[in-house]
Amino acid sequence: MFKGFGRSQRASAAAVEQPALDIKPRHIGLIMDGNGRWAQKRGLPRIAGHHAGMLAMREAIRACDDFGIECVTLYAFSTENWKRPPAEVDYLMRLPEQFFRSEIDELVRRNAQIRFIGDISRLPAHTQETVRRAIQCTQHNTGMIVNFALNYGGRMEIVAAMERYAREVMEGRATVGQLTEAACDRYLDTAGLPPLDLVIRTSGEIRLSNFLLWQAAYAELWFTDVLWPDFTREDLYQAICDYAKRKRRFGAIE
Ligand code: FPP
Repeated sequence: MFKGFGRSQRASAAAVEQPALDIKPRHIGLIMDGNGRWAQKRGLPRIAGHHAGMLAMREAIRACDDFGIECVTLYAFSTENWKRPPAEVDYLMRLPEQFFRSEIDELVRRNAQIRFIGDISRLPAHTQETVRRAIQCTQHNTGMIVNFALNYGGRMEIVAAMERYAREVMEGRATVGQLTEAACDRYLDTAGLPPLDLVIRTSGEIRLSNFLLWQAAYAELWFTDVLWPDFTREDLYQAICDYAKRKRRFGAIE
């Protein structure tokens, strides 16, 4: 199916316990931060942190699926990450291939739908090819959406949405003065995904860093000092339990 990609050795989803979660987010955004510091603490090169981060990401995806989350968006590479040393960027651009090589079988088995947001056209050709194949492998699946934000920036996404709208106006397919918030959603990269309910950021940083800016307007935010490679399904479970206790009023009063 995923030609050239190896077979997964992972335990089946059925073997993983599913906790009872009455109220849970439909869509979780994960800002996977702290890979570099995790490596530095161990005297390892930064790329070792990214490798460990990839393994933590694998576990987070499995846990989201086991917990019955409909969609998870993973901030894998931002539009600002190009400023990093070329060797680190090169490693990050090769991670998707490494990841899907070992994980695609399990993702297919889990009926997951792989999606990407961000400007894929500016990625190296080999990364684009990996992206294309990953989408293709799961295109008929109907389960959890695993959405990778790759070369993604929230502002860039909004600018691109404005461009799409302007083009439709010019072509007579949209009318000025009738644009609603719901209609704006349709011009974004996340069109069709469930509303973002919860954003989790690791490593003690308390900011969004250009992640899903429009979509996070009413999302609950959850921060932890845990560095991303150390993030476990127990941490995810804690975040979801805390989310369940939050009172979401969307600007109204009770
Ligand atoms: C931020 O930590 C993390 C990243 C820039 C990369 C995150 C990517 C992954 C976890 C794996 C992606 C894999 C696929 C398949 C898309 P940092 O390097 O900024 O950490 P620091 O703040 O401690 O330096």
